[in-house]
Amino acid sequence: MKDTIRQLLQQALTQLVTDGVLPEGLSPAIQVENARDKTHGDFASNIAMMLAKPAGLKPRDLAEKLIQALPASDDVSKVEIAGPGFLNFFQNTAALANRLDAALADAHLGVRKSGPAEKVVVDLSAPNLAKEMHVGHLRSTIIGDSVARILEFLGDRVIRQNHVGDWGTQFGMLLAYLEENPITSDELSDLENFYRAAKKRFDESEAFATRARSLVVKLQAGDADCLALWTRFKDISLSHCQKTYELLNVKLSMADVMGESAYNDDLANVVADLRHSGLLVENQGAQCVFLDEFKNAEGDPLPVIVQKADGGYLYATTDLAAVRYRSNVLKADRALYFVDQRQALHFNQVFEVARRAGFVGHPMRMEHMGFGTMNGADGRPFKTRDGGTVKLIDLLNEAKERAYALVKDKNPTLPEDELRRIGEVVGIGAVKYADLSKHRTSDYSFNFELMLNFDGNTAPYLLYAYTRVASVFRKLGKGFEEVTGTIVLQAPHEQELAARLAQFGEVLNSVADKGTPHVLCSYLYDIAGLFSSFYENCPILSADTAEQQQSRLRLAALTGRTLKQGLELLGLETLERM
Ligand code: ARG
Repeated sequence: MKDTIRQLLQQALTQLVTDGVLPEGLSPAIQVENARDKTHGDFASNIAMMLAKPAGLKPRDLAEKLIQALPASDDVSKVEIAGPGFLNFFQNTAALANRLDAALADAHLGVRKSGPAEKVVVDLSAPNLAKEMHVGHLRSTIIGDSVARILEFLGDRVIRQNHVGDWGTQFGMLLAYLEENPITSDELSDLENFYRAAKKRFDESEAFATRARSLVVKLQAGDADCLALWTRFKDISLSHCQKTYELLNVKLSMADVMGESAYNDDLANVVADLRHSGLLVENQGAQCVFLDEFKNAEGDPLPVIVQKADGGYLYATTDLAAVRYRSNVLKADRALYFVDQRQALHFNQVFEVARRAGFVGHPMRMEHMGFGTMNGADGRPFKTRDGGTVKLIDLLNEAKERAYALVKDKNPTLPEDELRRIGEVVGIGAVKYADLSKHRTSDYSFNFELMLNFDGNTAPYLLYAYTRVASVFRKLGKGFEEVTGTIVLQAPHEQELAARLAQFGEVLNSVADKGTPHVLCSYLYDIAGLFSSFYENCPILSADTAEQQQSRLRLAALTGRTLKQGLELLGLETLERM
């Protein structure tokens, strides 16, 4: 609906330019907001106030002219001027009801992508395989997963790329340790301990450190024995990741792994090609690219180093190779990088160097979808009691346990296996939702009590809201799809729920565009609240007429399907009862 109003306003503006009321060459961003007080309209725009000055008119006079120039539309029943010059739009409830009926008849709930379908690379998760996944990898994994699901739902072709850290100097140390201690996979079940033991040897023994360094060189030169050991270690580490992904209900598989090592053979080419394009400068033996726009606060240049003096390549070199692969081989139109905000400079540099070097052959928009840090309840970086990093799998298991205890307390009579299942869905959902519902660029504090609360913008609240809708239909012995009739919007609570339900597509398009799942979270939270008021004020089972009952049931069915679909797009499972 906001899009429709924007289009109508755009047409009116064009008309006013033709009429000479507005000067040519204006291209204002037309803002349309949900009105807070629905008695004065459903949507509001401040465009007349924005353009009053260039038009040389009072805002209310320009608003008047805009209304006259607005093309007629079935979706709008009335437009009024309010306050200093706001335009208030009243939605045509019959058109709105038709739209919702059409959504109910559609497997995609009437949602369409606003632009053409694209091929999109989503770079997500990407832990370093030398260690176990820790809480720092949660955000990239679940925010990236949700955005990937939404892009797919809108019809984009998504290619997930798990750019795992599986190369580099730590691996020499681990291989040297594996060589000394022929360890079984069982003993490698705790990678954290293994890494610590290897690091200890490395720090204590000069001979061991030398051996480790020589193994990196051998590994990178393709020595068969080294590669075999490395492959074994990598397989075990990836199987740990895979277990975490499954517990997290994240759509990532081994087939999505495209680690740093995959670009190894191309790194020398990257450096050679940068040299050809005249971008390389040697600085103290290292190969660097200097770009004018990258300077530190003192004005000193911040080079991108692509090869060290000892010949070794760096993180940026691999990312340059990856950009080239994603554009030229995968032919992606867009590449989204879900990586910690602290890597912003790295990505800005890589993207710019890649463009200048002509590595982006197929036009590809590159977007760093950065995110803030997950802190502990004390606001400091999340750590174990003794200051160590928290293993992600431990955190998730604790969430399951806590949710199980909570649900058992509320519902002691449920069978044990159902309690376990609810505990898992609620516990994992709570951890994910708490993260997804914050703007990704802000830091946030991890807090079990808050995220497991049944009130407020939390997973338990939304999962419970869904079970309430489901229970209406269970009592009737019907599925969401089985309600006939049409939607007729009369009561204000019906209209408000309906208006918000009709915005699902708009919300998903905005999340896909900006990579911000928190917008979908707030939307679902609104829907749950609006449903609850509707349910209290508009009786369904004791409705006045059969038509009214069908209409209300259809609104409830669309609410149920929207909540379930929305939660699934966030990567949350739903329950029929809890
Ligand atoms: N492994 C890196 C880290 O843990 C993240 C990689 C992100 N993706 C990328 N293309 N650089 O910091």
